[in-house]
Amino acid sequence: MAKLVKVTDTQSLPPGSAAAFDVEGNRIALFNVGGTIYAIEDTCTHAGASLAEGTVEGTKVTCPWHGAEFDLTNGSALTPPAFEGVKTFKVVVEGRDIKVEV
Ligand code: FES
Repeated sequence: MAKLVKVTDTQSLPPGSAAAFDVEGNRIALFNVGGTIYAIEDTCTHAGASLAEGTVEGTKVTCPWHGAEFDLTNGSALTPPAFEGVKTFKVVVEGRDIKVEV
């Protein structure tokens, strides 16, 4: 059954930042884009880079290794060399707590 797990807080993840966390067996990348938090699987489907270390432009992240782009809103792979999307996770912000549904 899905449950909400506190992962970090809004002070630790200010707008414009990203970080990866281990949550109940999932490696999850959180991105704060202008105050909206997105959570996607951290591992690039091409060769395994950490997408939290990628470059964010709007709601798109570019993989730091070979430049595949993913949509933060739905996890879809936008450009090669990645063809498979990543999983997304629901985010709930309660007070300062950032929680993810896993
Ligand atoms: S590991 Fe992400 S594009 Fe290659």
